[in-house]
Amino acid sequence: MSGFDFSAVASRYEQTSTVQKSAAEVLLQLMQIGEGDDVLDLGCGTGHITRTIREVTSGRVVGADPSPGMISEAEKGSKVGDVIFIVRPAEELDFREEFDVVFCNSAFQWFRDPRRALKSCQSALRPGGRIGIQAPARRIYSPTFIAAIEWVREDPRTCGTFCRFQPPWLFLEKEEEYEELFQEAGFKVLFSRIETVRERRTPEEVFRVFASGAIAGYLNPAYYEGGFDEAYAGAFQDVVRDAFVRMAEEDGSLELIFHRIYLVARS
Ligand SMILES: C[S@@+](CC[C@H](N)C(=O)[O-])C[C@H]1O[C@@H](n2cnc3c(N)ncnc32)[C@H](O)[C@@H]1O
Repeated sequence: MSGFDFSAVASRYEQTSTVQKSAAEVLLQLMQIGEGDDVLDLGCGTGHITRTIREVTSGRVVGADPSPGMISEAEKGSKVGDVIFIVRPAEELDFREEFDVVFCNSAFQWFRDPRRALKSCQSALRPGGRIGIQAPARRIYSPTFIAAIEWVREDPRTCGTFCRFQPPWLFLEKEEEYEELFQEAGFKVLFSRIETVRERRTPEEVFRVFASGAIAGYLNPAYYEGGFDEAYAGAFQDVVRDAFVRMAEEDGSLELIFHRIYLVARS
């Protein structure tokens, strides 16, 4: 295989998605899911957060994700009937006033049509229901990753192909821009904040974080005009890995920085 999508990262995702998990804990705190709430975990991935939500509420819990590989991992890790998992993108939900909460961690940036997705979320929620998202924000969503990508842009092994990359993500610069999207879809925004999170990690740990999510964009041939060959995928990973090593300081660690939007809104 010459490229990655979420099905390709699914089997390692539970081990590598450490930053998504810590961000999800903050979003769970913000959402305060009630004991009997019916919850849709949108862009649920391999379902580890869906299972945490299952422990919080006795209501119905559904996980939806367009990646068959992610949903297959999610089903493997859950007791039959405990949580319902469906292969479906946010843009194509067909629920009608069935949930009290839509929970969406580290997935909003991937939505191909966020306006349509938010309309389907609005329909899925009961009147007064709440939606909460956490997602990387700003064009420089991670100064650490973007610095490594600058090496990819310059390196003779990768520059000729990388110039054909068309980023798939939605990254907005300000809280107000996210708020506008939700308001256009009929939501009342209750809370929004872009936070900057900094952690010290080894270069290999930073690469693992990169490989848990970002790689599914940077190495998906669908996001390159004309695709790419096997050699590019290998060279890309070598350049990114080396960049993290070069960025390490004397103690062998580097700063992993992310800007993250947290937003909660009511339907
Ligand atoms: C980084 S993972 C996050 C998974 C999980 N929510 C977590 O926090 O660990 C991003 C997920 O978004 C999903 N995704 C991509 N496009 C989507 C869409 N249009 N609608 C819903 N989910 C989407 C991907 O398949 C992937 O499983």
